[in-house]
Amino acid sequence: MTMQLGLKSYLEEHVSIQLFNRACCLAVLALSCSLAVAQSATLAQTPPMGWNAWNHFKGSITDADVRAAADAMVSSGMRDVGYTYINIDDTWEGVRDAQGNIQTNSRFPDMKALADYVHSKGLKLGIYSSPGPGTCAHFEGSYNHEQQDADTYAKWGIDYLKYDLCGLRPIMKEQSKGDQLVASTIMKQAYEKMHQALLNTHRPILYSLCEYGWDSPWLWGQQVGGNAWRTTGDIGDRYDSMSLIGFSQAGLAKYAGPGHWNDPDMLEIGNGGMTPDEYQTHMSLWAILAAPLLAGNDLSKMDDVTRSILVNKDVIAVDQDRLGIQGDRVSAVGPYEIWMKPLDHKAKAVALFNRGPLAEPITIQLKDVGISGSVHGYDLWAHKDLGILKDSYTATVPRHGVVMVRLSR
Ligand code: GLA
Repeated sequence: MTMQLGLKSYLEEHVSIQLFNRACCLAVLALSCSLAVAQSATLAQTPPMGWNAWNHFKGSITDADVRAAADAMVSSGMRDVGYTYINIDDTWEGVRDAQGNIQTNSRFPDMKALADYVHSKGLKLGIYSSPGPGTCAHFEGSYNHEQQDADTYAKWGIDYLKYDLCGLRPIMKEQSKGDQLVASTIMKQAYEKMHQALLNTHRPILYSLCEYGWDSPWLWGQQVGGNAWRTTGDIGDRYDSMSLIGFSQAGLAKYAGPGHWNDPDMLEIGNGGMTPDEYQTHMSLWAILAAPLLAGNDLSKMDDVTRSILVNKDVIAVDQDRLGIQGDRVSAVGPYEIWMKPLDHKAKAVALFNRGPLAEPITIQLKDVGISGSVHGYDLWAHKDLGILKDSYTATVPRHGVVMVRLSR
């Protein structure tokens, strides 16, 4: 009897928590939907482009490194082809002062002065935090300080926030008692809370959600104000990591569009772990995916090959196409994949990827990418006019490499 009563009250409490959370979430989401749309109407109309410190510098990043990245973004010509955001990732945080205001640590002596410097170069500054009490690298997070932190970011002149789940996970686990729906609701409410805090600052701050694709953020990211959401775990500077992430994005295209993008993580181009062909695959695949293009290398020590991959205007134009339609896989035959992204003026970007160990010819049947008859072709890496193509196009694609063409009438 006691056990039965215990079970009954547990179920009542449990179910009512779930219903409450569901109702709260729906109400909050509905209320914020128009605001979210208002925010995204002006931000990230095309996928964000810039640089992020994490992939190369990890926890050693300093104010001087960020300034050097801003300088190099200008001198390398990256700014002129669209790269805009200079994003500080984890490990800038210090302790809170007596009033609870977040402070920087000694590697970032004056964040406002740093933002002024970045802005003086015609660039924007991004920052990082977590909805939990701590970040992934165990620095201070924004839990219970959301508005205070958003106000501080606005005061400093921040233009972009990456909000990384990490430190909230133990709280989600404890409060949900293992119920995934409750855990998911806690997470969405936390993302929504920071979204409202950012809106309250009246400063346009691009909002990038990072929860590693754990709970299908493409289904709800836009409703909590996200301009982008990570769809996967962390990328590594290896072909297997990059290709596994990139090629697994098939099927997500319908969730992206102007103001709200799927984010398969930052670029590794130039970090040294892949060949030039593999880095071209990385850049091409991210462009076909309309992914954020956030370089992750040391911009101040970039070689010519790295620079030429990052500043390829023809490939960037695919990523940044005005229509904002994410591309998708057309076919996969063994290790040979064909992906297509529809572009403005009825043009199409088509990429032929060779995931195999040897160079091989790959053929696109034009009808498979929705083209009947003949079409004009242009090779986006060779920068070569291919003339008129009829029915099909065949190119030899290097091992782990790509041939990418623009097809237009
Ligand atoms: C997580 C994120 C990374 C990076 C680190 C920083 O792993 O996915 O992109 O921000 O945290 O600690």
